[in-house]
Amino acid sequence: MNAPHPQPIALQGAGLVKRFKTGRTHIEVLKSIDFDCRHGEMTMVMGPSGSGKSTLIAALSGLLRPDEGKVTALGEDLWSQRPGRIDKFRLDHCGFIFQGFNLFGALTALQQVTTILKYKGYSPAEARDRAAIALTEVGLGKRLEQRPAELSGGEKQRVAIARALAKDPRLLFADEPTSALDGENGQIVIKLLQRAAKEHGAAVICVTHDPRLEAYADRIIHIEDGRILDDRRTADVAAQAKQSALAGA
Ligand SMILES: Nc1ncnc2c1ncn2[C@@H]1O[C@H](COP(=O)(O)OP(=O)(O)OP(=O)(O)O)[C@@H](O)[C@H]1O
Ligand SMILES: [Mg+2]
Repeated sequence: MNAPHPQPIALQGAGLVKRFKTGRTHIEVLKSIDFDCRHGEMTMVMGPSGSGKSTLIAALSGLLRPDEGKVTALGEDLWSQRPGRIDKFRLDHCGFIFQGFNLFGALTALQQVTTILKYKGYSPAEARDRAAIALTEVGLGKRLEQRPAELSGGEKQRVAIARALAKDPRLLFADEPTSALDGENGQIVIKLLQRAAKEHGAAVICVTHDPRLEAYADRIIHIEDGRILDDRRTADVAAQAKQSALAGA
């Protein structure tokens, strides 16, 4: 069988180490992690609570400086740049769906999304149209004028998702994007993330505990205690299963 043509690498971390100081002790949360992901692919990061998944995403996306190691994002050495440049890089190229949503309390669902788009350079009318489309895609077309306090947990999560997708980012970081969603809405969101990868060529890095997402991943990376334990392509898994079924037949 021919191996699929590999997509270009979008993001690469090499030897990433992160330590946190608590009291007098340092805990090493990332223990020399090497990581890469490609355009057009959904890379899923799984692992127990506290294993370092969110810390890894933060180091890869320019949010939290690692103590050691290097991140190459879209060909740029991310952490060698001035903080202002790193912020600009995030604004221009990265979409984020966080644990906890990070919505602005005073803004309506529509404003949450348009604000980011205006920063990115869209005119107010364009920003409004794109934002309304993105919110409608996540099933919130009738909630445009509601503020976070007037939205359910799952609706807040979907606003955060619409905000990230409306930018059409090259790098899309999602941290537990379906944790507050029921089956149906979880499915919608997974498909939107997949579309960002397959149709828009984004590199999607998705942290999750949700086994429903595995079927949509191109690659699954398991982290435990700050180390990568396992890194496999789902196509390999499918091919292996087929081969062992044939061998057993
Ligand atoms: N600012 C901080 N100061 C001290 N320790 C921290 C800090 N941030 C994270 N940690 C610790 O680092 C470890 C990894 O945290 P991280 O948030 O990356 O875990 P996670 O894999 O995302 O877990 P979860 O699945 O619960 O979200 C945890 O043990 C956490 O307590
Ligand atoms: Mg986390």
